[in-house]
Amino acid sequence: MSDRREATLRRLGLVPSAGDLIRAALGGALARAEAARLAQGAAPPAVVVLDAGCGRSSALARHRARIGRFVGVDIHPPAPGALPYLDEFATLDLCTISDAFPPATFDLVLSSFTVEHFADAGAAFANLARWLRPGGSLVLTTVNRRHPFVAAYLGLPNGLRRRIQPLVKATAADAHPLVGACNDPAELRTALERAGYGEIRIQAVGHLARAWGRRRPAFVLGLVGDLLTRGMPSRRSTLVVTARIPGPAA
Ligand SMILES: C[S@@+](CC[C@H](N)C(=O)[O-])C[C@H]1O[C@@H](n2cnc3c(N)ncnc32)[C@H](O)[C@@H]1O
Repeated sequence: MSDRREATLRRLGLVPSAGDLIRAALGGALARAEAARLAQGAAPPAVVVLDAGCGRSSALARHRARIGRFVGVDIHPPAPGALPYLDEFATLDLCTISDAFPPATFDLVLSSFTVEHFADAGAAFANLARWLRPGGSLVLTTVNRRHPFVAAYLGLPNGLRRRIQPLVKATAADAHPLVGACNDPAELRTALERAGYGEIRIQAVGHLARAWGRRRPAFVLGLVGDLLTRGMPSRRSTLVVTARIPGPAA
């Protein structure tokens, strides 16, 4: 999205953005993980992270210098050389493969705009919980079915939605099949609690104009959607969630 459109959104008070919240969540989780590793005597950078459903970009890449081992997984393999910041990549379905990593491998898992694609979000959350160390953090973002536009979009017949997706996404490669089976704050909280997470914090933020902002008509539609729910926090389009596996605090 252009700087001008971003400035318009900030002027209209559509802040913080989902990006702002994700950056703050990742910064806090990384600092906690660094302190925990240091307390165990590991020399930095010792933090081990997973981007679960890493696609073609990662909000963790900017922190590369603070990360000892950076792993990405996705159901689709990336183009050769597309993810230069990763140390390892594995092609796998997070909803079905539970033994890809030993238990307690990661200090921090990011799963960004993936839950809406999961056929079995509960199984994916349980796998990620198993792979996180005690005290480790999960940061995830997804769409909120309580927003009327999101609900309408998820409710479209698959064929029609497949035709619309490339209009709001940057490229066809970003248009993945949608399931949306665990996409409201209450369902997410229940699924995360069942999978063993604690300290669950769910924030809802208007993100449609930013997500759809590359083309003017989609940007304007997104802006209307964001303004419509500005005064209704639980109905905003996008959920930014932090949760932790119970264990020693850093
Ligand atoms: C909307 S993209 C988000 C990509 C990236 N995380 C980001 O924020 O730009 C969703 C990603 O989740 C992946 N994905 C969907 N279902 C998955 C599954 N069951 N297991 C692993 N990856 C999955 C897709 O292949 C895609 O790369």
